[in-house]
Amino acid sequence: MTPRGPHDVRVLPDIESLSRAAAGFIVSYIQRTISARVRFSMVLSGGSTPKRLYELFASSPYRDAVDWTKVHLFWADERCVPPDDPESNYTLAFDAFLNSVAPPSQNIHRIHGEEEPTAAAGLYEEDIRAFFGAGRTPVFDLVLLGAGEDGHTASLFPNSPAVLERTRLAVPVDLDPPNLNRVTLTLPVLNNASHVLFLAAGRRKAGVVHEIMEDGNPKRYPAGLVKPGDGELTWMLDREAAGALTGVVMGK
Ligand code: 6PG
Repeated sequence: MTPRGPHDVRVLPDIESLSRAAAGFIVSYIQRTISARVRFSMVLSGGSTPKRLYELFASSPYRDAVDWTKVHLFWADERCVPPDDPESNYTLAFDAFLNSVAPPSQNIHRIHGEEEPTAAAGLYEEDIRAFFGAGRTPVFDLVLLGAGEDGHTASLFPNSPAVLERTRLAVPVDLDPPNLNRVTLTLPVLNNASHVLFLAAGRRKAGVVHEIMEDGNPKRYPAGLVKPGDGELTWMLDREAAGALTGVVMGK
C-alpha cells in the first residue's frame, strides 16, 4: 500500500506492541530534541487508545530515559469537567503517568475544563501563546492524536464549525447532551506541528482508517484533514485497525 501523502504507516500486532512502539518512538524523539534544545512540547490525546502508552511513560525503561523536567505537556482537547473528573483527559494522563513522573507544575498546560468553555478556550490560547511567543502559530514538537469511528480527532467532529476555524488556536465545542461540551485545538495548530502521531486500534476503526489512508478521505473526516504542512505524519495501527488496508507490511 502506498500511503497517500508524505506519511509513515506502521502496523503492530496488538495494542501492547503498538503502545511500546509508540513509547519507543516518542522517547527517542524527545531525547534527540532535548539534546539540541532545552524543552520539548508534547500535545496529549484523550480517549482510551493512548492509556497503555501513558502507563508505559511511567515505567521502565521509558520513564528514566526522559528528562521530564524539560517536557511540556499540552492537551489536544478536553471535556468541560473539573480536572479530577473521570471523564477528564487531564485525569487520564495524570493517573497514568503524570502523578509518577511528576514534571514541574509549570510544565503542565492543562485545559481548564472547569471553566465556562469559551473562557477555557481563551485561557488555553493565552497559555499556548505565552509559551511559544505571541504573534505566530505555535509549532508543537509532537502532537498525539486518536481517531473516532466517525473520523473525528481531538474534538474536531465532522461538520462542526470548529473544523473550519483558521484563526483561533483553541475553540469551545458544543455537543448535544449527554455528550460533554469540549475545548479543542484547531486544525491550523495541529497542521503546524513538527510531528503528528496518530494511534488507532481495534476493528471498529478499520473502515475510517481505510477511507483516510487509501480512499483519499472522501468524506473529509477531520482526522483525514490533519497533514502537517512542514512536519511529519505517522499513523501507528494495530492489526485490527489496519484490517481494511491493502499491502501494509506488519511491523514488529
Ligand atoms: C477524546 C479524544 C478523542 C479520541 C478519539 C478516539 O477526548 O475522546 O481526544 O479525539 O482520541 O475519540 O478515542 P479512543 O482512543 O477511545 O478510540
